[in-house]
Amino acid sequence: MIRDFSYQNPTRIHFGKSAMEKLPMELSQYGERVLLVYGKSSIKRIPCGAEGQSLYDHVLQVLRAAGKQVVELGGVSANPRYSELLEGAHLARENRVDLILAVGGGSVIDCAKGISCAAYAEGDVWERYYVRQEKVNNPIIPVGSILTMAGTGSEMNSGSVITNEAQRLKIGRVYPLAQVAPRFSILNPEFTYTVPRYQMVSGIADIFSHLMEQYFSDEDDCTTDYLIEGVMRSLISASRKAIQNPQDYEARSNIMWCATVALNKLLSLSKTEDWEVHMIEHQLGAYTDCAHGIGLAIISPAYYRHIYRYGLPRFVRFAQQVWGVEESKEQGAKNQEQIALAGIDCLEAFFRELGIPSTLREVGATEEMLPQIAHSTTLGGGYKTLIADDVETILRACY
Ligand code: NZQ
Ligand code: ZN
Repeated sequence: MIRDFSYQNPTRIHFGKSAMEKLPMELSQYGERVLLVYGKSSIKRIPCGAEGQSLYDHVLQVLRAAGKQVVELGGVSANPRYSELLEGAHLARENRVDLILAVGGGSVIDCAKGISCAAYAEGDVWERYYVRQEKVNNPIIPVGSILTMAGTGSEMNSGSVITNEAQRLKIGRVYPLAQVAPRFSILNPEFTYTVPRYQMVSGIADIFSHLMEQYFSDEDDCTTDYLIEGVMRSLISASRKAIQNPQDYEARSNIMWCATVALNKLLSLSKTEDWEVHMIEHQLGAYTDCAHGIGLAIISPAYYRHIYRYGLPRFVRFAQQVWGVEESKEQGAKNQEQIALAGIDCLEAFFRELGIPSTLREVGATEEMLPQIAHSTTLGGGYKTLIADDVETILRACY
């Protein structure tokens, strides 16, 4: 650990089958006006509470019992749109809400955080808070969340990723953790039983990518890297079980907690981090509206094969510590490059095992889009700083 840090995460987590019982206590800490934000339809299909009741019914019942006046913003899209953020901001401001309660996956929670910062903002919020990443200088409405899909970690961080369709841009804003991270998040793994398999594996790939984005940077001996390796191994094990039996509570609970710890800042402490795979995927998403984790899984092997030589010792360590790649005794010692590449092959095989598509075509990308995606991607990176041509090469390698 060679870099200084300060760390405090403000989100109170209530985890497990009884987590919803904590909702009245949390609600009691806010005024009576609540903006309830949710997605298209899953909230009305997830069972919760009394026989036959949905999560939607149950949450409304708890809100009413707590004496709340509820305003609703339903229908938030997967990959939430800026127009939805503005609609929510309008509702929050007009109704002077005291709390925004997000019930859903990362998209709903991200939208809620955007609303929380936008409600009392002046001017063009997209330009100010997403494009220019300006400091938020207006009042922020507190957010609480009830998570229904494991993946983004939005339940315990201050990220808000919004798509501006008119501009074909998808931009992530990491707001100040202390102000914008949910004040509380309710995590009942049973709520994820209804997540379709495609979304479940998308979430798993997203978690894995968050771990790799933090792991593939630096060369010092850092406790954070050991923690990341442990979470990766837990996620691989739990994912294999959940694929076999989606109602395996232990597996789904491990996946949910992996998602939360993977992106609540704990695993970035003393790390410089990478995040280039995410930058590329966000633009892929802006062009194709693909599921975030699926895009990451397609891009990751191509990206890591493009950069591994620049961080060779870490890629060797990844192969050995996470995938158990050994130097073959029969064929003589493998060289370092072979071990590193074998680790990336294992990663790719794992995504195939989950049933994730392997090409950009399968998520709707066309060849004409590739240079456009490459040239609109924010450039940076960990072991190698990319230029737009590198991004295009990576995209072509997985097209
Ligand atoms: O709209 P509904 O009907 O709720 O359906 C959703 C949606 O179609 C469905 N779903 C969620 N819970 C369900 C369920 N279906 C059945 N049963 C349930 N229990 O799943 C679909 C996907 O939901 P979504 O919220 O879009 O998925 P996810 O959690 O993967 O969020 C993706 C968004 O988060 C951003 C992504 O870019 C993307 O926009 N990210 C946010 C981050 C953050 N805040 O830190 C970091 C990530 O890297 C990521 O960029
Ligand atoms: Zn992600």
